[in-house]
Amino acid sequence: MRVVVLGSEGQLGSEVAEACASRGHELHPFDRELDIVDGRAVREALLPLCPDLVFNCAAFTDVDEAERRPLESARVNFLGAQNVALACREMDCSLVFISTDYVFDGRAGRPYNEFDEPHPVNFYGRSKLAAERSISSLLQRHYIIRTQWLFGKRGRGNFVRTITRKAREGDVLRVVADEYGSPTCASDLAQALLLLAETGQFGIYHLTNQGECSRLELAREILEIMGLDEERAQPILYEELGLPCERPPYAPLDNFCLRLLGLPPLRHYREPLREYVEWLLEDPRRLY
Ligand SMILES: NC(=O)c1ccc[n+]([C@@H]2O[C@H](COP(=O)([O-])OP(=O)(O)OC[C@H]3O[C@@H](n4cnc5c(N)ncnc54)[C@H](OP(=O)(O)O)[C@@H]3O)[C@@H](O)[C@H]2O)c1
Repeated sequence: MRVVVLGSEGQLGSEVAEACASRGHELHPFDRELDIVDGRAVREALLPLCPDLVFNCAAFTDVDEAERRPLESARVNFLGAQNVALACREMDCSLVFISTDYVFDGRAGRPYNEFDEPHPVNFYGRSKLAAERSISSLLQRHYIIRTQWLFGKRGRGNFVRTITRKAREGDVLRVVADEYGSPTCASDLAQALLLLAETGQFGIYHLTNQGECSRLELAREILEIMGLDEERAQPILYEELGLPCERPPYAPLDNFCLRLLGLPPLRHYREPLREYVEWLLEDPRRLY
């Protein structure tokens, strides 16, 4: 297949690009050099390539900044997503768009599946939901993938890397105890995305590693992997952080539609978490 990956330097996009290349697909990666906010540039770059499949992993991912700078974040997360969908429609190719657990409010008291009604509580979630709706009305051949709590080798920082670094530097860790989700390994997700994109079963999917935990429990698991005292991570409540963005308190994603298709579930998060923390510690430069 001829595959375009947008956001190819990011945490997920870099893994998707690697997975595509290792499966022998013809890969066309783009990151900042193709600003997805510029619809004309998107058309001009993609149309001559005639791709079979486009992965849109490019996004404005700082959720607190999205609250402070809604226009700027929506340009990428909504307008950019729409530009890519329009180009895909013109090229008659399939699109994989990455969305988020933040389309839910986290108040259901159980994991969310794909049949649950979204109800975002922050601007990032609202703009991603608007993009989901726009894509599904513009383009039939879409896979909308909701995921959460990514950790990967490249891209901007992530929670696991931050906790590992702070623990290694000897900091006392104050970690949110009232936010729950499923940590998800970017390379596991990339493999699952490729499998799913081969099915032709277009639609919305929740894709995360199995298992769920609070941020505090995750930090303590990282300390345990590092051979450090788990009690070094002490609980705080989310509201004590005083951050601008409200977050869903309990939003693990049930990968219901993946089971429906009979596709293999992703591993329990503990397995890739251990591999990742050990990889980080092998070379401390990876922590920064
Ligand atoms: N990280 C998570 O925990 C998480 C959770 C749920 C959903 N998601 C979604 O998963 C997807 C991948 O996230 P990620 O963690 O891989 O993000 P990431 O590491 O920040 O990667 C996003 C990439 O897109 C680039 N980009 C930003 N604006 C762009 C633009 N206008 N045009 C072209 N490229 C642009 C970024 O460049 P710069 O670095 O220079 O900005 C970066 O290389 C996103 O859609 C995100 O919303 C992520």
